Amino acid sequence: MDSNRGQWSSKVGFILAAAGSAIGLGNIWRFPYIVGENGGGAFVLIYIIMVVFIGLPYMLAELALGRSVQRNPVGSIEAIKPKSAWKGVGYLGVLTGVGILSFYGVIAGWTVGYIYKMLAGRPGGFAGFIADPIPVLILFAFFIFLTALIVNGGISGGIERWSKILIPLLFILMLGLIIYANTLKGSGKGLIFYLNPDLSKITGKTILAALGQAFFSLSLGMGLMITYGSYVSKQENIMTSAFYISLFDTLIAFIAGLIIFPALFANGLNPSAGAKLVFVVLPDLFAKMPGGALVGSVFFLLLSVAALTSTISLLEVPVAYMVDEKKQPRKKIVWVVALVTYIIGIPSALSQGANHFFTDFGWLPSRLASADFLSEMSFLFGDFSLVVGAFLLSIFVGWVWGAEKAADELALGSANFNRFRKVWIFMIRFFIPAVIFIILLNLFGIFG
Ligand code: PHE
Repeated sequence: MDSNRGQWSSKVGFILAAAGSAIGLGNIWRFPYIVGENGGGAFVLIYIIMVVFIGLPYMLAELALGRSVQRNPVGSIEAIKPKSAWKGVGYLGVLTGVGILSFYGVIAGWTVGYIYKMLAGRPGGFAGFIADPIPVLILFAFFIFLTALIVNGGISGGIERWSKILIPLLFILMLGLIIYANTLKGSGKGLIFYLNPDLSKITGKTILAALGQAFFSLSLGMGLMITYGSYVSKQENIMTSAFYISLFDTLIAFIAGLIIFPALFANGLNPSAGAKLVFVVLPDLFAKMPGGALVGSVFFLLLSVAALTSTISLLEVPVAYMVDEKKQPRKKIVWVVALVTYIIGIPSALSQGANHFFTDFGWLPSRLASADFLSEMSFLFGDFSLVVGAFLLSIFVGWVWGAEKAADELALGSANFNRFRKVWIFMIRFFIPAVIFIILLNLFGIFG
């Protein structure tokens, strides 16, 4: 093995770093508003089905590929099928990392802004806050800078150390908030909305939204798990690691809903308010709670950290590519990629009211995404590109590399895997690509 690439220092370190990538704004900001827009409990049910039957088995494929050849997504594909068009899938992953980071960093910047807004006793005025270009651009720059600083520190020194301490803290604070939110008057209706599935609300769009959200939340479809898997040693049990990563990620998203929907219904707000949901409901919850300014501020601090462990993983994919394949020094290329991402993110930062052109961008059909540039980027890179990437990568692993070889890799370090071997091979070769394909056809309106 190439000892200069770096490795996770321990099993727990790897699980937490990968869980740190998975857990982020996707769980606490995106999950609740997508649940709200897609009718509540029915969506939650489909989401969980997607995580268990598509996300988790697919995650094993990315991890196996990464650990087997120990390279970034482009290099991994090149190592298995040299000089083929399959490399394009690796490039798509690298591009998607930059694309997601460009809008994700903007929202992470808002989160940082709320650390201060809560302390200063100004929990309201979200729409005005995100429409004000100067603070938004500065906070976005700050967040990208911090991300680059940590990625600069390398694998175990930077990413791992942070994830270990702060993710568990976020978890504990959120557990406490469940209790508070559910003692509010009127909160019971929120629990019903969230947990009682109304199956008539399931449509093609719900199913695509659930699949896209599962990939986004689990950090799948862009080769992130190939990259993180490449730093895992051969003795490690990938199967149990993937299980815990998926479990923690789903738990945090689920808990976010247990806080937000009760609080939302207690205040008589509309669950389909869209992307602003969390930034409106939670500050309001904190404002009414004794000591809420401090608790709210700590909450947004921890949420910023959760976002940071995700942004470092997003930046790590293009950086690992440049380091491995283009032989660029890590310490230099990190800053170049960060700067490029920032520039690509400026339209997203200005699309929430600061600039008319980007606010009413509207290049995509309105049934797919709202008109603002940020929402369009979120659909293109945060849903569509991940789903397409996962489709192609599952075919690559299942048929080109070969499901048998992938299964052998998974069995290294986890004797238990052989019990699921046959099922997994069937899933990666047939079930996963077929399901994604049908959902994509539906997206293009093939089924009317
Ligand atoms: N999973 C992260 C979140 O939920 C976002 C992400 C997507 C990170 C893809 C890396 C790769 O916030």
